[in-house]
Amino acid sequence: MLALNPGPLPDILIAYCARWRDRAFVNLNLSVNKESYNVYTFSPVRIADFDHGSGHGLCRGDVVVDIGAGDGWWARQMARFVGAEGVIHAGEIEQKKVDDMKGKCADSPQVKSYLIPLDSTALPDNSCDLAFLSKTYHHFNKGSHVDYLRHLHKVVKPTGRLCIIERHSAIPGGTRATEHGWSPGLLMQQAEEAGWVGVRCELIRGTYHFMAIFVQKELFPPEPERRRPEGRDNQN
Ligand SMILES: C[S@@+](CC[C@H](N)C(=O)[O-])C[C@H]1O[C@@H](n2cnc3c(N)ncnc32)[C@H](O)[C@@H]1O
Repeated sequence: MLALNPGPLPDILIAYCARWRDRAFVNLNLSVNKESYNVYTFSPVRIADFDHGSGHGLCRGDVVVDIGAGDGWWARQMARFVGAEGVIHAGEIEQKKVDDMKGKCADSPQVKSYLIPLDSTALPDNSCDLAFLSKTYHHFNKGSHVDYLRHLHKVVKPTGRLCIIERHSAIPGGTRATEHGWSPGLLMQQAEEAGWVGVRCELIRGTYHFMAIFVQKELFPPEPERRRPEGRDNQN
């Protein structure tokens, strides 16, 4: 049985915060002076979210697929945790992005930038420890989300995880919320339909985004049958 207690992975948290900090300041209209910086410096939004079954976070040697990897920023951060023996498959649907990423990730040879189709990672079954999507899920074609999650269920190893970051669609913010966001509730529903179980979903403090973590439902053994005291009727 997988241990679900989270282990810390602070470095990637710090990296995450560094990326969002400036944008959050702009969004919240805060002046970037030392005091406000201190107040709004992100506190531990636990990246335990990347916690692995072992409870040690991303492990050396882990294989990750970063879907819609963009400029490869995340891929490079994760490369530090999986080490030289790990692999980050950084998938993009545009050849130009793949080429740019290759340049940007030249010093992280474990980042493998590659072109993917719209509806698949093109990776074999049981090949990844983590499937990671940052602000990509809402880009999937209408009606294809559950199928994509089913595909990931096959690609991710039985003890692996799925991590999805999206802008929270219910937090007001003009068209960005509706066109470039997603509802955590809908995501949970779709993930469950595809065989995933949500183990964490939380707002990333100081941003409009949430991070949801899923494991495969097959990880959970059948609930042991409850033994009722003799002579009592089954009432529920
Ligand atoms: C908003 S960007 C996010 C980039 C990066 N993940 C980040 O967080 O900085 C969304 C990316 O998803 C890619 N994308 C769009 N549809 C996709 C699909 N069906 N499969 C994989 N990537 C897709 C886009 O090309 C774009 O680079």
